[in-house]
Amino acid sequence: MKLWELIIDHLQEAYPSSLTFQELVRECEKSEEMVQRTLNELIEKGFPIDIKENKVNLSFPLLSKKRISEHLSTKELAQNLLIFDSIGSTNTYAKEHLSSIPHGSVFLAHEQVQGKGRLGRGWSSPVGKNISMTLILKPSRLLPDASLLTQLTAAAIVEALAEKVNAQIKWPNDILLNKKKVAGILTEAEFSNGKLDGIVIGMGVNTNLENDDLTDELKEKATSIRKECGEAIDPNLLLQAFFESFEKYYQDFMYTNNPSPFLDVCRKHSALIGREMWLIDADTKKKVLIQTIDSSGGLVVQDLKTKKQETLTSTRYSIRGENSYV
Ligand code: BTN
Repeated sequence: MKLWELIIDHLQEAYPSSLTFQELVRECEKSEEMVQRTLNELIEKGFPIDIKENKVNLSFPLLSKKRISEHLSTKELAQNLLIFDSIGSTNTYAKEHLSSIPHGSVFLAHEQVQGKGRLGRGWSSPVGKNISMTLILKPSRLLPDASLLTQLTAAAIVEALAEKVNAQIKWPNDILLNKKKVAGILTEAEFSNGKLDGIVIGMGVNTNLENDDLTDELKEKATSIRKECGEAIDPNLLLQAFFESFEKYYQDFMYTNNPSPFLDVCRKHSALIGREMWLIDADTKKKVLIQTIDSSGGLVVQDLKTKKQETLTSTRYSIRGENSYV
């Protein structure tokens, strides 16, 4: 284990209390010089570490492998878990190394410098303030449609959040708190020679972003759990709950081939069903009534002009409210 990771694990364990510098050195079993140098490097990179007089502490909780793994009861998921200090994109990394990555592996990063969103958009991941995660799946049987896994992921995020907040899902891949986006999912299936190599599920959750971390434009449509709850939250506990929930739905789905349990959660928490919305596809735009999510995860809508019903399965659409994000 690298020293920077060890330092974060010990500071996380002590959080919200601090450790004296000597206690930290003792816990890390390294020289004072090495610990001091690594602390300076972390602070330089923007990690929320405060040093006052002789005391060191985190100003809010950070990802820690030790904390995620303790009490985790999953069998397949997150048994192989890696946390990067900084990376371009966890999804890109996973795709580049897919052949050697075991099923159920998880990559997390304290910071992404080239985070990717849906429809070629970017995804901002400042140091320590959100969960940037990629989950690698190599399903034991053929899946009809990998996009169902986006719905499964959305249901598991909502369930993991339920202890703190009541979240909604904006089909297909946005999670909302009070009508603003708090998390997004980017599912990518990788094939070679017509054969599925694996499914890469990227998930970004705005955990501890503060008001100043969002531009005025973003403030209109994005938020963080911290902003909505009024206090810093522990991303490790959220991930633990997410992994438990994801594995429960995934194993059940692999066994029964029935997506109803997680699609029911998506319907119950839908931010769209029953509402009139703008459906935007490239440069065309039409008003539709969102009716339901069907049994294969498609969004059933009715064109308000022609009254024709159609089921959206592709994720290329944008869905917007009258003059707002939702
Ligand atoms: C979206 O809402 O458009 C999807 C956002 C997905 C962001 C996550 S963060 C971890 C993973 N790595 C990436 O580059 N993107 C996904």
